[in-house]
Amino acid sequence: MQLPNIQQTLNTMNAVLLLLTVPLLAVTSQETCNLPPSEWCSSWETAKACQVEKQCLEFYNHVNTKKASSPAVQVELYYESLCGGCRNFIITQLYPTWLMLGDIMNITLVPYGNAMEKNDSGKWEFQCQHGPDECLGNMIEACLMYFLKNVDDYFTVIFCMEYSGNVSMIFETCLTAFNPALSSKQVRECASGDLGIKLMHQNALKTESLKPPHQYVPWIVLNGEHTDDIQNQAQNALFNLVCETYTGSKPGACSQKKEVIPLKRDLLCLK
Ligand SMILES: *[C@@H]1O[C@H](CO)[C@@H](O)[C@H](O)[C@H]1NC(C)=O
Ligand SMILES: *[C@@H]1O[C@H](CO)[C@@H](O)[C@H](O)[C@H]1NC(C)=O
Ligand SMILES: *[C@@H]1O[C@H](CO)[C@@H](O)[C@H](O)[C@H]1NC(C)=O
Repeated sequence: MQLPNIQQTLNTMNAVLLLLTVPLLAVTSQETCNLPPSEWCSSWETAKACQVEKQCLEFYNHVNTKKASSPAVQVELYYESLCGGCRNFIITQLYPTWLMLGDIMNITLVPYGNAMEKNDSGKWEFQCQHGPDECLGNMIEACLMYFLKNVDDYFTVIFCMEYSGNVSMIFETCLTAFNPALSSKQVRECASGDLGIKLMHQNALKTESLKPPHQYVPWIVLNGEHTDDIQNQAQNALFNLVCETYTGSKPGACSQKKEVIPLKRDLLCLK
């Protein structure tokens, strides 16, 4: 079995990023996918342009045959915006799995990771493993989630940021491409002000209360539980793990096991 979903997602994202960096292309090509994922299956032409024909067929198959009947599989990701392993996990596992299995899984993203906070001046200040740029990336992502609330609205923006070279710099481009209704100024203000600090402090508390405490990121919690086994399975083939864990009748997509692309252990960011 090939991995059309992951490859196509990446192709699509490449197409979108290319589109944004080469504006002429946008004008000349009717075939380019420049719609948010929620609209990829809105017509066959769009599905083709976005290279997700197969996913759309599967999507309609399981929407038509069953409604999610059992509790969604809870997937929590503790991460930091510039850690290579976190970016890799989001790009190759979490986002593609969510595209396919979004209606049987519930994702919680907690950007903070191995950061530290201290209160010297009466305000929380944060120190991030990969420097101030990582703190800014974490903050922007926390603010995006705060304003957009619905994972359907923010996950693609965050994926787009994590997929690109410079997370904080590409932010406006990703927001404009996938959620132009939210003003980037509002998000920037949040990320540099008291609201951002408050959100990041909440993420700090959430991360610091993990049991067992995290030793590295990406740190994955499935249905409230973290074990080495869950972590390994999630890193290697989250798609299969979510299908296996879901207790309801499985969506059509689960009938094909996806090929495993293990995440390289050396990409993990140790605490
Ligand atoms: C999804 O997770 C959030 C916590 O992150 C929780 O508040 C919400 O109830 C969950 N939703 C479902 C449908 O499980
Ligand atoms: C920071 O510490 C000071 C002095 O201990 C305290 O009064 C203040 O409430 C703290 N601020 C925050 C944001 O926790
Ligand atoms: C990303 O962009 C920001 C803002 O332009 C810049 O300060 C930072 O150095 C860049 N980071 C990298 C890794 O290039």
